[in-house]
Amino acid sequence: MNKSALELIGVSKLFQKDGESVLAVDAVGLTVKEGELVTFLGPSGCGKTTTLRMVAGFELPTSGRITIKGKDMTNVPVNKRGIGFMFQTYALFPHMSVYNNVAYGLKARGEKDREIKTKVREALRLVGLEKTEHRFPNQLSGGEQQRVALARVIVMEPSLLLMDEPLSNLDAKLRIHMRTEIRKIQQDLGITCLYVTHDQSEALTMADRIVIMNKGRIEQIGTPFEIYSNPQSVFVADFIGQANIIRLKITAVGSDTISVQIPQGGVFTARALRPERLKKQEAIYKVGAEASLIIRPEQIQLGPAPAKEDQFPAIVESAMFVGSHIEYFVKLPNDSVIKALVPYQTGMHIFSAGDDVELSFDVASAVFLPN
Ligand SMILES: Nc1ncnc2c1ncn2[C@@H]1O[C@H](COP(=O)(O)OP(=O)(O)O)[C@@H](O)[C@H]1O
Ligand SMILES: [Mg+2]
Repeated sequence: MNKSALELIGVSKLFQKDGESVLAVDAVGLTVKEGELVTFLGPSGCGKTTTLRMVAGFELPTSGRITIKGKDMTNVPVNKRGIGFMFQTYALFPHMSVYNNVAYGLKARGEKDREIKTKVREALRLVGLEKTEHRFPNQLSGGEQQRVALARVIVMEPSLLLMDEPLSNLDAKLRIHMRTEIRKIQQDLGITCLYVTHDQSEALTMADRIVIMNKGRIEQIGTPFEIYSNPQSVFVADFIGQANIIRLKITAVGSDTISVQIPQGGVFTARALRPERLKKQEAIYKVGAEASLIIRPEQIQLGPAPAKEDQFPAIVESAMFVGSHIEYFVKLPNDSVIKALVPYQTGMHIFSAGDDVELSFDVASAVFLPN
């Protein structure tokens, strides 16, 4: 028997706000495997929190179904779902010791003192706080309080762990440290986890898979590598990592490539994606229309003009030496501004503002998407 840990089937949520309806979540479908950590990433207001709150049971879906380990949970109350949550504000009980904060839920559940002690100590050991059980929250650093909050959740042995931007109150350095810690604990316990963030590097470094949301809908689901190297929409390409998005006129359409007119140059051909959601459309790419070329800054090389047939002529707008790289902004004759991050090698020529250059890149690293 191989039931998925969690399944969302056509889940939607319609809110009424000031007499208007807001479709906060629009037909979201997702299957999460046992032990998987799935991050939800997207701009503010795209429906991440609402989706999580429906999984938790704090909101009921307007339509659709939610199953946990194959059991329909759509209308099951919060406390019957066996879910642990951790939110941005983790509100420890200030008048209780660390031990009692962590033990609180087990006591409420009526577990025996001896078992509680074993479980609390184990949870505190997992989060690296075994020596603090007698302290009070105000005697702990922000990071330590966060760990207590995590211990308090995992001690309950939830079947599913939900986290909504749990690190956003911490400073940058601690945030980076804690994401590795959380990931390690999650993997050690083999606990299935949904993790909401609007921080793309957090999403990329922690996730088995990322769900990219936009305006209530899922734009793409994939491993960090898939999302980064094969974005299925301009939105995803733009949201994950840095991407240059250059709109160019199509001159020819092949079976899985297209060719475009390089502004004041020749013709450039590369792989063209046909996103799943547009499969039904007859012609995603048409000669004479435009497509978006997606190219990452670190894939671009600059050379002295003139450009060859399949290279892009450009003028350097700015060049900045940033140690390991030179960060260039260059302008194409169609006014597109492109960022290039060129690794610095000793003795290499650095172009200056106003220089005529050519841009080149490995065709395999570029991809076309519909506008
Ligand atoms: N209780 C609510 N009542 C009305 N509208 C809401 C409510 N909760 C969220 N929304 C709206 O739903 C949309 C998605 O919100 P949310 O899920 O919080 O997004 P995110 O977590 O991605 O920032 C937003 O437009 C928000 O204003
Ligand atoms: Mg939110």
